[in-house]
Amino acid sequence: MLLANPARPLMKKLSLRLQTIFELVPFGYDVIWDLCCDHGYLGLMLAKEKISEQVFLIDCVPSIIENLQARLKKLPQIKNVAQAGLQDAGTIQLVEKKKQLLIISGVGGLATIELLQQIFSNNPSQEKPDLLLSPKHHLFAVRKFLISQGYQLINETLSFENSRSYENLLVSQDGELPLVDTGSIQWNIDDSQHLDYLNIQIEHNRRKQAHAIVEKYCALQVSLD
Ligand SMILES: C[S@@+](CC[C@H](N)C(=O)[O-])C[C@H]1O[C@@H](n2cnc3c(N)ncnc32)[C@H](O)[C@@H]1O
Repeated sequence: MLLANPARPLMKKLSLRLQTIFELVPFGYDVIWDLCCDHGYLGLMLAKEKISEQVFLIDCVPSIIENLQARLKKLPQIKNVAQAGLQDAGTIQLVEKKKQLLIISGVGGLATIELLQQIFSNNPSQEKPDLLLSPKHHLFAVRKFLISQGYQLINETLSFENSRSYENLLVSQDGELPLVDTGSIQWNIDDSQHLDYLNIQIEHNRRKQAHAIVEKYCALQVSLD
């Protein structure tokens, strides 16, 4: 049973974007992976707040991981970081028989799909883990991929920071809601930012002549009216 994690003062140190993602992470996972972690702000906060038993921080840039390891040495109170690892995120070995969550945020949507394909193919005997994704662009493609892999929705939000928009998706093989390619519970028709974001998706896909996707977003627009 996953329990919602309540707001804590330490969250203030995260940017609004990362705080939104942090708040979506439920308690109850044995292992959380912050993949492509960069400074590791999110993973460190999850570890510090003991949201799960173990947290892995993974990035493929040596200086990032060296800095993170040095910071961890100065934070002895954080005991549940299993590893700050220099690794291509696509090559991780999931921990056997543990309930785990993979977080990938701030990475392009197509790169996110590629990483997940690699992880699934490198861990064929493991149950597919829960995922918390906040990709840059190509949200329709990411959603289609997740649907094709049998994922369902636990939660989704649309957030805005510094005139950028982010769709944040928490999905699981046993989520209770259908995962919809154009989004579902994230939309708030009373919020003009949401309607603007939807228009941007329509115009962007129109320019790319992705007619089928335009039709889907237009149908959503009509349904929200
Ligand atoms: C824009 S940062 C996002 C950082 C953080 N997740 C966030 O949301 O703020 C992207 C990070 O992904 C890392 N990265 C890109 N491809 C990767 C891969 N295949 N394996 C591990 N790290 C990767 C980069 O080194 C960089 O630190």
